[in-house]
Amino acid sequence: VEASARSLIFVGFMGAGKSTAARAAAKELGVEALDTDKVFEERYGPIPEYFTTHGEAEFRAREQEVVLELLDRGGLIALGGGSILSPRVRDALRAHRVVWIDSELETCWNRVRHSGRPLARNRGDFVDLFFARRPLYEQLADIVVPAQAPVAEVLAVVRALPEGSRMVWAQTAGGAYPVVVGHGVRSMPVPTVGGRSFVVTDANVAVQDWAPEADIVIPAGEEQKTLATAAGVWRHLAEAGATRGDHVRAVGGGVVGDLAGFCAGTYQRGMPVVQQPTTLVAQVDAAIGGKTGVDLPEGKNYVGAYHQPRAVLSDLDVLATLPDAERAAGYAEVVKTALIAGGHLWSRVSAGEDVDADIVFACARTKVAVVAADERDGGRRQVLNLGHTVAHALETWTGYTRLRHGEAVSLGLLAALRLSGLDELRAQVRALLERAGLPVTIDGIDVDEVVSLTRRDKKRIGAKVPFVLTLAPGHVVHGQEVPDADVRAAVEELVA
Ligand SMILES: NC(=O)c1ccc[n+]([C@@H]2O[C@H](COP(=O)([O-])OP(=O)(O)OC[C@H]3O[C@@H](n4cnc5c(N)ncnc54)[C@H](O)[C@@H]3O)[C@@H](O)[C@H]2O)c1
Repeated sequence: VEASARSLIFVGFMGAGKSTAARAAAKELGVEALDTDKVFEERYGPIPEYFTTHGEAEFRAREQEVVLELLDRGGLIALGGGSILSPRVRDALRAHRVVWIDSELETCWNRVRHSGRPLARNRGDFVDLFFARRPLYEQLADIVVPAQAPVAEVLAVVRALPEGSRMVWAQTAGGAYPVVVGHGVRSMPVPTVGGRSFVVTDANVAVQDWAPEADIVIPAGEEQKTLATAAGVWRHLAEAGATRGDHVRAVGGGVVGDLAGFCAGTYQRGMPVVQQPTTLVAQVDAAIGGKTGVDLPEGKNYVGAYHQPRAVLSDLDVLATLPDAERAAGYAEVVKTALIAGGHLWSRVSAGEDVDADIVFACARTKVAVVAADERDGGRRQVLNLGHTVAHALETWTGYTRLRHGEAVSLGLLAALRLSGLDELRAQVRALLERAGLPVTIDGIDVDEVVSLTRRDKKRIGAKVPFVLTLAPGHVVHGQEVPDADVRAAVEELVA
């Protein structure tokens, strides 16, 4: 850690691999890694024995002393898994950069089950503790990294992070990349790309200060998300002599992100893309996860490719110029993501709190986690389509002009909650959406045609369209078969 930088503190559940990660990071930076468990054992002997002889309370008190002393000294430190239970430790951590090594339950359990650690003797207790502690790590972390992330690359990004920003490292089969959320991140260096940068943006964003040196300006709007627009981008890249060593920088909402991402993914069979989302929809959803593409008159997002970005830079400053209706549209995706995530995110959103950096980051983290588990929509990723089967049908029926995507999602979420049979939750979500200025009813649609359009959903396999349903906030299931009559009733209920 450079003298000027704040300390890097590695936290995580027992067995997550934080000590290993801290050692690797220390080696990379040429500094020494401190480990609070090790320092404890040097002073008081083996932890399991101390724990057994003196009890947990006494252990925690001694542990707190050690941790506070090391945090005060600073440097690169791995913290004992439970030390964050202490409010004093959590307080002290605010002065530092906290790196959460976020590992899966099974990974942690397999690493420690035979270790003799006092809290890893019984699987049931271990599982309970894992889920009880998660929210604490979640809220403390400035940087969220899976244990298998490449240390040197992660550190290069960490060094470039503007003060106060947060980062989650996305690790998928198709690529690994940072998703950064904060103020001023649009001008941070991006160590994961090189060569020339080709900025693609739309006409509305181009007149703001968010993309000062745009190379390619496309007209704004969903109706521009077409092969014809894509062809214009490809040809501009070709005429400018762009190569795969260069990169595209997509500065805009989901339309620019999807289209420019698709162009990058197909130009010379794939050049890197940096996503720089400028709408709430794109920051909490579209820019993350590598789905790119364009619409056909026959169906939305019908042609595309998976192309993971090299970085996602979500700068909250750029939302200042976003029209209210666009912000509201983004709020629909925030509510969707909160329903999927449950926990801290749902409790803030359901309380009607304003969207801030913490909520945007929690949404980004949720999307990253879902995509990491299933990059190509084989299973778990389908939960992200909560509300989208009906939303897409409404968008297609209205010709992509009447409803913003987020507005369609607002209606689709209500249909999905009806299909889930959750009256109270539906009423609560309806109130949140309505307060944000989103539509909760629609008139002038042909219910039967909208229902039949749901059958064109891309997730359909065979005769049935699998729906995504909610059992409770934080518990969303995909692949659910729903009788046509129920779909009809859920759409009918939306009609004003
Ligand atoms: N790839 C994915 O996983 C994914 C997920 C969700 C949505 N999407 C796609 O995203 C698209 C919707 O994205 P969107 O809602 O961002 O729409 P959008 O890109 O059309 O942006 C909405 C409007 O806001 C303007 N704008 C953007 N940033 C601005 C800023 N900072 N200040 C002022 N004006 C600004 C745009 O010019 C446009 O007029 C849809 O095509 C949808 O299919 C993709």
